[in-house]
Amino acid sequence: MSINFKDYVASVDNFPEPGIVFRDISPLMADGKAYAAATDEIAAYAKDKGVEMIVGPEARGFIVGCPVAYKLGVGFAPARKKGKLPRPTVSASYDLEYGQATLYLHEDAIKPGQRVLVCDDLLATGGTIAATIELVEKLGGIVVGTAFLIELSDLHGRDRIKDHDMFTLMSYT
Ligand code: ADE
Repeated sequence: MSINFKDYVASVDNFPEPGIVFRDISPLMADGKAYAAATDEIAAYAKDKGVEMIVGPEARGFIVGCPVAYKLGVGFAPARKKGKLPRPTVSASYDLEYGQATLYLHEDAIKPGQRVLVCDDLLATGGTIAATIELVEKLGGIVVGTAFLIELSDLHGRDRIKDHDMFTLMSYT
């Protein structure tokens, strides 16, 4: 029986600020069958892409990317915020509503020519994922796909990553 994944997303009005409907994936993670089915869907999308590594931005990108890496039998590299990675890194900055943020990836996380799937829980404006793609490409990796549980289509993040293939399990306006 197929799963209606939206049954496992809690929509929370006015969080973290007025006017935002927060799409909370913790019910999906809490249900073993739904979490495994979501993982399987992304792994099926990636199956014929020759993926060799998965990269996910902290923190919810780990929740999505790590089980997919396990399923595909490939490695996972975390893209992290400032001060978290202990060895030499590359960095990429992106705009937030107010100011900027920077993500980092260990210099040796991706080898030149490696085929990479970038995973995150949710695509909003696409800033985080654009920075994550930039990190992989700085190291010579080839981003062969991007995968998300949720796309917030009104925020047009898809336009930011239009040069890359994309998979989403659920879409909200
Ligand atoms: N990240 C950005 N917008 C979000 C939303 N509406 N719900 C959950 N995570 C988000």
